[in-house]
Amino acid sequence: NTSKLLLLPGDGIGPEAMAEVEKIVGFMNDEGVASFATEKALVGGSAYDAHGEAIADADMETALAADAVLFGAVGGPKWDSVPYDQRPEAGLLRLRKDLKLFANLRPAICYPALADASSLKPEIIEGLDILILRELTGGVYFGEPKEIIDLGNGQKRGIDTQVYDTYEIERIARAAFELARTRRGKVTSMEKRNVMKSGVLWNEVVTRVHREEFSDLQLEHMLADAGGMQLVRAPKQFDVIVTDNLFGDMLSDIAAMLTGSLGMLPSASLGAEDPATGKRKALYEPVHGSAPDIAGQGVANPIAMIASFAMCLRYSFQKVREADALEAAIAEVLEKGIRTPDIMAPGATRVGTVEMGAAIRSA
Ligand code: NAI
Ligand code: MG
Repeated sequence: NTSKLLLLPGDGIGPEAMAEVEKIVGFMNDEGVASFATEKALVGGSAYDAHGEAIADADMETALAADAVLFGAVGGPKWDSVPYDQRPEAGLLRLRKDLKLFANLRPAICYPALADASSLKPEIIEGLDILILRELTGGVYFGEPKEIIDLGNGQKRGIDTQVYDTYEIERIARAAFELARTRRGKVTSMEKRNVMKSGVLWNEVVTRVHREEFSDLQLEHMLADAGGMQLVRAPKQFDVIVTDNLFGDMLSDIAAMLTGSLGMLPSASLGAEDPATGKRKALYEPVHGSAPDIAGQGVANPIAMIASFAMCLRYSFQKVREADALEAAIAEVLEKGIRTPDIMAPGATRVGTVEMGAAIRSA
């Protein structure tokens, strides 16, 4: 039972970071702890240069057939003037759409060795490990009507509509509980049921899914504004936070900044479960972009990409022990003071991308 991984390194530092993940995959295969068959394809600007589009149809097919997709980063000044629907981001948007990735996972983890680098007090974030689950394909970003109406008297009206149907809330709620089950078993659902009808429905549906399917886990409800406050005041109270597209966008950016550098932040996007196989389509990517300012210099921090692969092991392949080991290796290397320039600290050892990857493999 070989698992199929599609690697899409992309542009800029994407390939530099992905190379370190490839070595980890090779190491796991060699050690006999996994059996991954990898394929690699172009995405973003490099795909545009080769095929005239940000992802080729054949590679899209490969993505649909893969057990998981690992994505580096796309974009850069070289492609600033390519046609809008061929721009590098179009490759990522097409992947999200065709793989029907409705659930966006953004962990906020604070490695003890980096607790001092945060703007918050170390005791608030040291050992932090929470997961924000954002609904990605519904809500106010996509609801109709969505328009600007000319009212004729010098006034216009901008309209966005928050729409959630039962099935959309059910599937994100199930994803939240399933994720919590692999973690500390607690889900906090955030909405604004005090002022929004969609919030009332959200609360109702999450409560029912919990009662009917996951009553062994802990569910708590919080108004999203109070949740934002709690996230900064005492973030360690949370395990999995599940929320809608808009609140999730904001809360996950806030949570990201609890822990510091862009070079450290992984993410995952999950699709619907295939009823036949019980498997989900999934794409794993660092939060950062292609970092053209440091691309090609061998100094990019590969940890966001490597931690994204740890999420892939955990959530696509249920390799919890291996994911834990990889995350522990990252923590150990940071503890030893091995640092890429973006997380450099006084007295630490400055290394490049390849050395950081090697240190993590060896740990
Ligand atoms: P960026 O995330 O690429 O870079 C922002 C800053 O963080 C830069 O100074 C960069 O050097 C630094 N940085 C980012 N990742 C790092 C890492 N792993 N190690 C060390 N330093 C790191 O965002 P920016 O500059 O706004 O965008 C650059 C390009 O990336 C643009 O073309 C943008 O459209 C694209 N982009 C792509 C994304 C994706 O592929 N998902 C996401 C965000 C931006
Ligand atoms: Mg955002």
